[in-house]
Amino acid sequence: MTDDAITAAADPGADFARRVLEWYDRHGRHDLPWQCPATPYRVWISEIMLQQTRVETVRGYFDRFMQRFPDVASLAAADIDEVLGLWSGLGYYARARNLHRAARAMVAEHGGEVPEDPEALNALPGIGRSTAGAILSLGHGRHHAILDGNVKRVLARHAGIEGWPGRAPVQRALWAVAEDRTPGERTAAYNQAMMDLGAMVCLRRPVCDACPVAADCSARNEGRTAEIPAAKPKREIPQRETVALVIQRGDDGAILLERRPPSGIWGGLWSLPEFNAEAELEAWVAARLGDVEIEPLAPVEHTFTHFRLRIHPRRVHLHGGVDPVREGADYGWYLPDDAPGGLPAPIRRLADRLGGAPHTADLPGINSHAG
Ligand code: ADE
Repeated sequence: MTDDAITAAADPGADFARRVLEWYDRHGRHDLPWQCPATPYRVWISEIMLQQTRVETVRGYFDRFMQRFPDVASLAAADIDEVLGLWSGLGYYARARNLHRAARAMVAEHGGEVPEDPEALNALPGIGRSTAGAILSLGHGRHHAILDGNVKRVLARHAGIEGWPGRAPVQRALWAVAEDRTPGERTAAYNQAMMDLGAMVCLRRPVCDACPVAADCSARNEGRTAEIPAAKPKREIPQRETVALVIQRGDDGAILLERRPPSGIWGGLWSLPEFNAEAELEAWVAARLGDVEIEPLAPVEHTFTHFRLRIHPRRVHLHGGVDPVREGADYGWYLPDDAPGGLPAPIRRLADRLGGAPHTADLPGINSHAG
């Protein structure tokens, strides 16, 4: 056993910060653009950029941003369009809007400085508890814990904290461990070390051999690094059902489409005529085509953000050139490629499987996702 393993076995979590800092001195990142120099302003901007974006992408954006907006005052004085222009390509533009609003608040309420008070920082747009902790520790040299996504992964595994970190009780447990372990000395280096450990070693698939705290890591010792931290629970999304009518013309393979109402899913697009219930479809067909056979086809599924739609297609074969509708504003015969505005994705797939000629075999099930 190594010395670290002996210490760790005797008292899990002991000496955690020392081991992390020792690792950081040898293997951590020391020359990131926002570390040289790590002023509160530079740390703030970098932390916001890094919230949803990788370090390598952020580098160039950070340098350009600093050249144009070297301090709070220049950012606050800028036109939002220019800020958004420099943000262009980073995504999540609310971050840029919040940055701009926060800079104006700093000028109005904090003398043009990034505040050093946790509550004042927390009250600014776009700055949560962990970002405030990073600004306070990395930028102002204060003793304050952080808990970003990377740090959550390291701590959840090491301390064996179960449950999805997005849940409030899990979050509270993680903050308690984060605060307990953050040292009063070298806080900035420790916080940077924890982020680096999460980004370089304690990955989703961790490289435990390279980890300075592997010896007493709960998840590793129990072979549960794949389960901790727990993934976000899959949302149970509701399922809606609809019945769609497929009528294809024998001569040219055109299908009957109906323009959808302007609001709701696929608003204004042309699609198959749809009904809430089988009986409605049957009544529609009987009224226009009389007693014809209605052939059920395999259902088609499509997943939207908030619900899953299962479409039950019903095919009717046209005989003797009977046209069930008078062509008007809301109905039309179109080849699938010619539907104005394009067919909704699952209807397109269904049409593709129909092929040009009617009377083909039943369709296999079709699944598609949001679009
Ligand atoms: N992600 C968030 N903050 C970071 C930092 N200071 N260094 C590297 N990655 C980060």
